[in-house]
Amino acid sequence: MQCRAMHITIFLLLLFISTSFAATDTLSEGSSLSVEKQSDILVSSNGDFSASFFQVGENAFCFSVCFTRSKRPTVLWMANRDEPVNGKGSFLSLWKDGNLVLTDAGGTVMWSTATSFPSELHLKLRNNGNLVLLTSQGTIIWQSFESPTDTLLPTQPLTEQVSLVSSRSATNHSSGFYKLYFDNDNVLRLLYKGTTFSSVYWPAPWQLPIDIGRSTYNVTKTALLDSFGLFTSSDGFQFRSTDYPKKVYRRLKMDSDGNLRLYSFIEESKTWEVTWQLLSQPCTVHGICGPNSMCNHDPVIGRSCFCLKGFKVKDPNDWTLGCEPEFPSSDFSCNSAESLGFLHLRTSEWYGYDWNVTRVSSLKECQNLCLALCDKCVGVQFKFNEVSTYNCFLKTMAFNGRDTPNFDGEIYLKLPNAILSSSTKTLKHSLMNCPVGLSHPLKRFYQAPGKNSTLSFLVWFACGFGLFEFSAIFLVWFFLFRTSKHPADTLDQQRHLLSATVFQRFTYAELKTATKGFKEEVGQGAGGVVYKGTLHDNRVAAIKRLNEATQVEAEFLAEMSTIGMLNHMNLIDMWGYCVEGKHRLLVYEYMEHGSLADNLFTNALDWKKRFNVAVGTAKGLAYLHEECLEWILHCDVKPQNILLDSDFHPKVADFGLSKLLNRDERGNSSFSRIRGTRGYMAPEWVYNLRITAKVDVYSYGIVVLEMVSGRSPMEIQSLENSRGIEQHRLVTWIRDKIKHATTREFWIEEIIDPSLEGNYDVSQVEALVKVALQCVKDDMNERPSMSQVAEMLQSHQHKLLPL
Ligand SMILES: *[C@@H]1O[C@H](CO)[C@@H](O)[C@H](O)[C@H]1NC(C)=O
Ligand SMILES: *[C@@H]1O[C@H](CO)[C@@H](O)[C@H](O)[C@H]1NC(C)=O
Ligand SMILES: *[C@@H]1O[C@H](CO)[C@@H](O)[C@H](O)[C@H]1NC(C)=O
Repeated sequence: MQCRAMHITIFLLLLFISTSFAATDTLSEGSSLSVEKQSDILVSSNGDFSASFFQVGENAFCFSVCFTRSKRPTVLWMANRDEPVNGKGSFLSLWKDGNLVLTDAGGTVMWSTATSFPSELHLKLRNNGNLVLLTSQGTIIWQSFESPTDTLLPTQPLTEQVSLVSSRSATNHSSGFYKLYFDNDNVLRLLYKGTTFSSVYWPAPWQLPIDIGRSTYNVTKTALLDSFGLFTSSDGFQFRSTDYPKKVYRRLKMDSDGNLRLYSFIEESKTWEVTWQLLSQPCTVHGICGPNSMCNHDPVIGRSCFCLKGFKVKDPNDWTLGCEPEFPSSDFSCNSAESLGFLHLRTSEWYGYDWNVTRVSSLKECQNLCLALCDKCVGVQFKFNEVSTYNCFLKTMAFNGRDTPNFDGEIYLKLPNAILSSSTKTLKHSLMNCPVGLSHPLKRFYQAPGKNSTLSFLVWFACGFGLFEFSAIFLVWFFLFRTSKHPADTLDQQRHLLSATVFQRFTYAELKTATKGFKEEVGQGAGGVVYKGTLHDNRVAAIKRLNEATQVEAEFLAEMSTIGMLNHMNLIDMWGYCVEGKHRLLVYEYMEHGSLADNLFTNALDWKKRFNVAVGTAKGLAYLHEECLEWILHCDVKPQNILLDSDFHPKVADFGLSKLLNRDERGNSSFSRIRGTRGYMAPEWVYNLRITAKVDVYSYGIVVLEMVSGRSPMEIQSLENSRGIEQHRLVTWIRDKIKHATTREFWIEEIIDPSLEGNYDVSQVEALVKVALQCVKDDMNERPSMSQVAEMLQSHQHKLLPL
């Protein structure tokens, strides 16, 4: 309660400051911006970009350009990403000699543009996010567009001098391992540059540029993204975003997981969505799991890293460090060859780090070469070459390891016999990493020389002010700043924004209080009971208590950081979680209209609403399947899991539970038990086939047919005498009606939900039913993907209902 009072005071305070201070986009010569004054901020004249000190950790700030229309400010550029400055006594100043300088507490220069100019200059934040140092005539002396960090904006050219370097992780903004750049042969490439190794991984190193349509002769070395979503490079590489040619805010980002993605800003939800990504196989990124590990990509589990047998993870929070041996390095010395053996890893590949490639006639010969190299060889990759000869790759490092079902080579890992005969299990760790991160505190303290300002700052901090609150307020500051131009916005909305930006961990006691001791049960979903509750800040929440507390805390937290970062207008918003002892709870926004199942048979949904539910659900699932960094399968799409907000917009719920509730060894995609719900389950579950994203497509198709016909797949099932495959009853019934009808009006009349009383758009019904029937094809390969479904339906969406 004390916290709330504090929030409100701060709000009023910020509101006061923001309204009494007029934002400007210009800093004149001889002036500074202070890290301590939240009003020291440049705002572009369109109000969409800001340049100010951005908090990257506890008492650590970077001078940054951010896009501020998004729910959370999006960092686009940083001056000093690798050397944050102190939260007290730091300044960005435009000196009289024309140098733009960032000084730390105590006056140390941490970064500068190293410019000088005889006459007066000014710094300006332009409407495209470019921070420029200009002469009074408007000539550019320096611009942030020429020294990007990990983000390229439309109209900002990528050139020989300008490359993109990823950040270390979603939450650590310092320089990471992945780089997009023009190489010496004029080709645009992606490079992994670790602390000890580096290698190019895109284009695939074994491909010649000419074979993939890339020119090595155009020395222009320029690439450009336009705001319609077209990217063109002088080496011939180009792509279009999935929403091309929509004119929206866009950014191309070298993501910390080594993939290059284009994001489009969605105005309605104030969030970014991926509208293009370069690599579809996340394990082809070099260095991603570190040494002595394997990368595995599975549509259900997503990407994960494993330590090889005999190795243990160095730092579970940073897989790029990989794994270290559990046996002494002396075990590989030259006189211990008899105590060594080889572990066979099928369908695996290690890219690079070969001592040499030798043609051999047997596996034994290959392994002996490795043994003879003593500690210089960690294993071999063995590949059939031609009649009775094989290629033996002697590996000096187990790096870039990945599971590749289609690869015809095999790996033999050298290990001490004692380890080979032990039955230790391999540790699996999910490595999913969605664009927006949780905030981890970064400890960074300065002792300003001669002064004790840091201490007093800390004391002030200690008065009940956590980092979390501080950064939340910092975010709110941006928001207030922007909205101060729109007086219509109420304090309530602002408070809502504060809560929306914070994905938090709750205590069990808090949630017990919120639900009044888990009294009001509102649903029974996969894995647990859902209760209605009111959080201490008066937000009404749906709180799910998971039944099985099988997951250890670290794993649960890893999943939470993934699920919490998913953000889409058609996915339920998750506010937080609780993990305490055996308790595992999830906290979601509460949907007042309940689920689609609750509404379908109550006449609450007219045709327009139903159609919008179909489109929105498709978009939400498409985001889960493809647009997030990794694939997540829902595995239980049904009307009970599609919730409706106050405007009857659908939000998919219960996603990610397949991961939370089922963690089998080694990401095996054949689930041990059938999941999903009868009536909605794809045939793959029944016939034990490979589970892919197409199981969700199938269930979605059934849900749509149910919405159109108003008949539950169960109901039809019980009406007819079941024989053959049960869950196809509704589908065969509809297919039959279509087959025997003379006109489309005729079959539509037969199958349409009578409670619509004839109020529907014939062509929309036809489109929806046709798409749904494609979705429920028995052969999963014949079903469209969720994003194709969304696209097909969207083209029919904006028609008006003839009444
Ligand atoms: C080289 O690339 C530039 C920029 O894309 C393009 O305008 C130019 O036509 C190219 N030159 C040749 C010879 O293809
Ligand atoms: C590869 O290295 C091993 C060990 O040094 C050596 O015996 C073998 O002849 C080499 N093979 C080739 C093709 O150079
Ligand atoms: C961020 O990454 C840098 C470089 O690897 C590292 O030195 C720093 O400690 C990291 N910060 C945090 C908070 O982990």
